[in-house]
Amino acid sequence: MMTEAPTLPGFISLQGIGKSYQLAGQHLSILNDVCLSIASGDSCGILGASGSGKSTQLNILGLLDLPDCGQYRFAGHNIFSANPDQLAAIRNQQIGFGFQSFNLLPRLSALDNVALPLSYRGVSCHESVEQALRMLDQVGLAERAHHRPADLSGGQRQRVAIER
Ligand SMILES: Nc1ncnc2c1ncn2[C@@H]1O[C@H](COP(=O)(O)OP(=O)(O)OP(=O)(O)O)[C@@H](O)[C@H]1O
Ligand SMILES: [Mg+2]
Repeated sequence: MMTEAPTLPGFISLQGIGKSYQLAGQHLSILNDVCLSIASGDSCGILGASGSGKSTQLNILGLLDLPDCGQYRFAGHNIFSANPDQLAAIRNQQIGFGFQSFNLLPRLSALDNVALPLSYRGVSCHESVEQALRMLDQVGLAERAHHRPADLSGGQRQRVAIER
């Protein structure tokens, strides 16, 4: 029997999460009754075969997609009762998401890709760029800061996406 997870600040708690896709008249059930609790400061890995639903679950955890059913509390917020602006603020301030296919903005430089979320957060343009440059420097990309994603290697793109 699953017990209700405590909702401490910083706690991630999923209860009975379900997600399915409809494609070409086919019903694809991907997540069934997923229950998961992650305490503040914990590290957690999600393992599974290719196509088993890891990214689907991470998209839900990262507030990029909603499940079809279940309950999700993130740091004390009931995700189903939050409006899109509240979800965007939580994503911007409390969630870092490393996309499997990076999802860098192709027309922006590496520097601007990293600086953009900071400016959404209200950090001044000058400070955003300075901070982004420091972050790129930490991963050995200071000399590639003005390259666009297409002009970076795969590993360099991956590091830009992680810094963002
Ligand atoms: N938009 C969609 N419509 C229909 N089916 C989808 C859609 N997105 C994903 N799927 C299917 O859902 C399943 C889970 O996909 P998901 O991307 O979560 O897998 P994954 O565990 O992250 O795989 P990988 O390790 O290959 O990245 C896959 O079988 C995939 O084909
Ligand atoms: Mg995946």
